[in-house]
Amino acid sequence: MNIEIKPDTLGIPTLFVDNTPFFIRGGEIHNSSASSPDYMNSHVWPSIQEMHINTLIIPIYWELIEPEEGRYQMVTVESIIDQARSYGIKIVFLWFGLWKNSESMYIPGWMKKDSQYFRVRTIHGEPLNIISPFCKKAIAKDAQAFSKVMSFIKEKDSEHGTVIMMQVENEIGILGSDSDYSDEAQHLFNQDIPEDIQKLYSVTGNWTKAFAENAQEMFMAYYYASAVCEISRAGQEQYNLPCYANAWLKQYPWYPGSYPCGGPIRETHAVWKLKAPNLFTLAPDIYVPYVADVMHEYSYEGNPLFIPEVRKDAVTTSYCLYAFGKFNAIGFAPFGIEDLILSPNDIEKPPMEVMLALNIDPSAFDITNSRMYLSAAYELLESMEPLYLSYRGTNHLQSYLKQSETDFGTFLTFEHFDLSIAYAPKSPSKPVAAGIIIELEPHRFFVAGVMSSLSFRSKPGQKMKTEILRLEEGTLMNGTWRPGRTLNGDEKIRLNLGDMPTCYMIELFSY
Ligand code: DGJ
Repeated sequence: MNIEIKPDTLGIPTLFVDNTPFFIRGGEIHNSSASSPDYMNSHVWPSIQEMHINTLIIPIYWELIEPEEGRYQMVTVESIIDQARSYGIKIVFLWFGLWKNSESMYIPGWMKKDSQYFRVRTIHGEPLNIISPFCKKAIAKDAQAFSKVMSFIKEKDSEHGTVIMMQVENEIGILGSDSDYSDEAQHLFNQDIPEDIQKLYSVTGNWTKAFAENAQEMFMAYYYASAVCEISRAGQEQYNLPCYANAWLKQYPWYPGSYPCGGPIRETHAVWKLKAPNLFTLAPDIYVPYVADVMHEYSYEGNPLFIPEVRKDAVTTSYCLYAFGKFNAIGFAPFGIEDLILSPNDIEKPPMEVMLALNIDPSAFDITNSRMYLSAAYELLESMEPLYLSYRGTNHLQSYLKQSETDFGTFLTFEHFDLSIAYAPKSPSKPVAAGIIIELEPHRFFVAGVMSSLSFRSKPGQKMKTEILRLEEGTLMNGTWRPGRTLNGDEKIRLNLGDMPTCYMIELFSY
């Protein structure tokens, strides 16, 4: 089965599964859930039912796959693929190889104990629990294991297409130091920069001369990206699935080493693209409250937006509408999705020290109402898919989101009418104002969204007034509108979208 990212007819990078566009309405599961197929069966698969999720993002672990050097076992990978098929869900696998949240926590025990696989050192010579990206032997071992995994997936799944994408490693970079000060690293750091990066930036000399205060970060990005390229290519040679890398964002307190230094933060993308051109995107993991800004930053030509991890509070609903509506996202997935079935008080929040270590804003893990809102938003997006596909990337489809406390609304312009949108104030455990508007015909609009009120207007200078001719609630079934009530009474005085994601069909007239 053919699985690839390629431009659709309008040139928008799109994931095609068996030649059909596929939009990932996903969730990423907790780090350790997939180490036990039994646990997956009892806790994970049942918890995501009726949420209109079509893909789970699931880790697989090098330490379980190669427990003894050179002996590979794929039992867990195989069971998870079988389980996913029985639930009709696609999989994005996370390869927890050499690096996971900077550290080398999922490498096999035999590698952990063998000092020939040397570690990153701080400027004081202290080793960190991170295998150095300058350790060629370790990278070759990781590449070999990843290629075994990919050849297994090909054999097991290439005709079914259950596994649709691979994330290679997880939140790479050095936490706790701005560079690797091992001898091997420093030897290269003091040499002239390689020719390809000289050309890219039109600079010469050693790393310090070329990049001044950014030298360490550029240097680490160059070698981390090279390592990820070697590993992912080894896998893709076996089975050419789309691969990407994800980033722990550059965030407060902003200095390299407070976030993983050398990872694919926005500032190092050019280096990552240079050294790992086989990755289809560099994806943000978003736990900060300014989600829309990050989506904007990580969505540009050559880097389609894919969000493998995002906050799971109620506001998430709004971000998912905006990710697809505004940025033509490949996919969207709140982290720890299996929690959403729990009551907010039962959720095991990571202890404060873990939150601090991961630099995660605790409100990102507040799940009050999240399941209800996210399921409704995913259902809406699912039902809109045929319409979305016909109109995205044109001026006929526009999307909005309340960006901050002081963002009170927006004004959208369409061919014959304008639309003024007022945002409801933010309220606890609810989505913020967001929506998608589609101009189906000059007088006919489909609107989908939350927490906003809409009023259509005549174009400036027109001596006409605009009114709603017909306001219908309803649902879309395979792109066809199934009307419910006609709301031509009090309801249309002001068209309000409440906290539950909903949609309406509207016909306008002018007089
Ligand atoms: C980001 C990481 O990529 C995830 O694996 C997980 O550790 C979350 N942070 C938060 O728990």
